[in-house]
Formats: sequence, structure tokens, C-alpha cells
Amino acid sequence: MTFPFTRMRRMRKEDFSRRLMREHRISSDDLIYPMFVIEGNNSREHIPSMPGIERVSIDILLEEAAELVDLGIPMIALFPVVSNDKKSLLAEEAYNPNGLAQRAVKALKEAFPELGVMTDVALDPFTTHGQDGIIDESGYVLNDVTVDTLVKQALSHAQAGADVIAPSDMMDGRIGEIRNELETEGFINTLIMAYSAKYASAYYGPFRDAVGSSTNLGKGNKFTYQMDPANSNEAIREIMLDLDEGADMVMVKPGMPYLDIVRRVKTELEVPTFVYQVSGEYAMQMAAFQNGWLDKDTVMMESLLAFKRAGADGILTYFAKDAARLLKN
Ligand code: PBG
Repeated sequence: MTFPFTRMRRMRKEDFSRRLMREHRISSDDLIYPMFVIEGNNSREHIPSMPGIERVSIDILLEEAAELVDLGIPMIALFPVVSNDKKSLLAEEAYNPNGLAQRAVKALKEAFPELGVMTDVALDPFTTHGQDGIIDESGYVLNDVTVDTLVKQALSHAQAGADVIAPSDMMDGRIGEIRNELETEGFINTLIMAYSAKYASAYYGPFRDAVGSSTNLGKGNKFTYQMDPANSNEAIREIMLDLDEGADMVMVKPGMPYLDIVRRVKTELEVPTFVYQVSGEYAMQMAAFQNGWLDKDTVMMESLLAFKRAGADGILTYFAKDAARLLKN
């Protein structure tokens, strides 16, 4: 039947019917908050390219975590920022049992056992050159050597009490090796969220400022391990491999420019699917908000809803705290 029997606007006229037909909703349950942690006490550092986001010392991290728990945010994702003297060619600091990430996890799990803590497994915060792995003389990131180190890093996170290990390095075979080690060491319930379809994106710029890897990386790029933004089938293949190797959850990253990939993953593989609204997406929206060009609350929520509509089960977003506050009121 066509017009006037069908009038699409009938259902849109009143708030009650709009609410009833609404297909997707954002709740605090959907949100994962990425946080940057530094050494020190009572320290907060602004990140110029990420207004509103700070690097914080562990004591402040705990204060923040109390609010996140209160807001109903299920999990945070931790990113350590270490000084240059802790960086090396072999990234040994990555698996230091008393390293910053490991101490932060312990402190968080002691204070807030109910808050999920996810850790980033990749070597870029700890290499002198800012690459996610160990390089040869030509600068090429070596796969299998890197995986050995990632396994040690992942185990040290699990030993510290991390709930979710999240390899973001894009080496081949790392999920299987990490899963194997976790099983062998008795960490059978440690979850793995694989950054499976991680693109070689220019949207990571502000994050690299935040962790201080941009200067070290210089003109370097990550094209030999992160995916070409031109590809879609390759993402499905990456995800199938990570699932086979033992990933519990998979991720697409960045977010908004890759919604088509999120939808494909959810439809074709029907697995717990996550998306990362990355630093550059946050930065560009914040720039518009701060200029008064876009309205923060509504645009932020619309951007998050897009991920749910595309099929994401959860979203890593720097807006997590702001969105959860808004949802609470
Ligand atoms: C490091 C890592 C990156 C991000 C998460 N983990 C940067 C990169 O791969 O260069 C990006 C997150 C963001 O941009 O918000 N392996």
C-alpha cells in the first residue's frame, strides 16, 4: 500500500510512538573508556590534541575509576605512557611485572574488583622507534620475534589481574600464541579482545601524541602490519583467524569511517563485536564542539548510536564518561 495508506510520519508524530519503535539504544553498558596512565602522584597532564582527556597517575586513576563504576561503565582500557629511558629496541619494559601498566591493573582490581580492566598488548609505548614490534636492520617489524615478546607482555598483564587482554599489534598468529600461554599458565578465564581489523589509519594521530610515540615514530608508518583502508574482505579473514586462534571478542578500528566493516562482521560472523571510536574521531568532533559548530551532547550520542546500528555490541570511546553522565541525568 502506498500513500496515503502508508504515512511514515504517523509513527514519528508523538514521542511515545517514537520511543516504542526505536530499534537501538545506547546505555552505559555499551561503553569502554580508554585511559592513559603515567608515573607519579596526584599528576594530571592535558593532551592538547584530545581536549578533555588527560594522562593521570595511578592515584588519580583510582579516583576516576570510582566515578566510572558509579556511572555504570563496565570496563576501562588502560594505556601506559612511559618515559624515554624505559624504551628500548627490544621493549623489555612491556613485560616488567612491576611496570606501570601491571601496577595500574593491580591497584584497580584491588580497589574495584567489579570494574573490568582491559590492557593493550603491543610494544609501541616501549620501543625507541614507536613501532608495535621488534625491528630488523631495515626497520621491518619482525613477526615471530615480536609475538614471543607479546606473549610475555600478555602473561604479565594476566598475572597482574587483567580481565581482558587486547592485542592491538596486528602480528600474525599472536592470538593463538597468547591463548596457548594463558591456558598453560592456568589463566583459562582471561578474555581476549582482538584488535582484529585494525587499519593503518591516520586517525590515530592524537593517540600517538598522548602516549608519546609520535615523535619516536617520526615519518614511520605501520603499513606492513596494519590493514590497508581500501580493504574489506581482508577484515573478515583477519577476524576469522583471530576467532580460530581463541579470541572471545573482536574489534574493528577506527570506528565511524569503518561502519561498513562493523556491519559485515556482525552479519557474517555473529560474534561479540566491538568498535573503537579512535582519538582522531574524538579530536575532530571536539574541535567542532569547542568552536560551537556542532552541539556536543546530541552529536556525541548520534555518533555512538551509529555504532549500535551498525551492529557493535560495545564501543571504546573517549566520550564514555561524558555519555554515561548524560545518560544518567
Ligand atoms: C597501539 C595502539 C594505537 C591505538 C590503540 N593502540 C595506535 C597505533 O596503532 O598507532 C589507537 C587508539 C586511538 O587512536 O585512539 N598499538
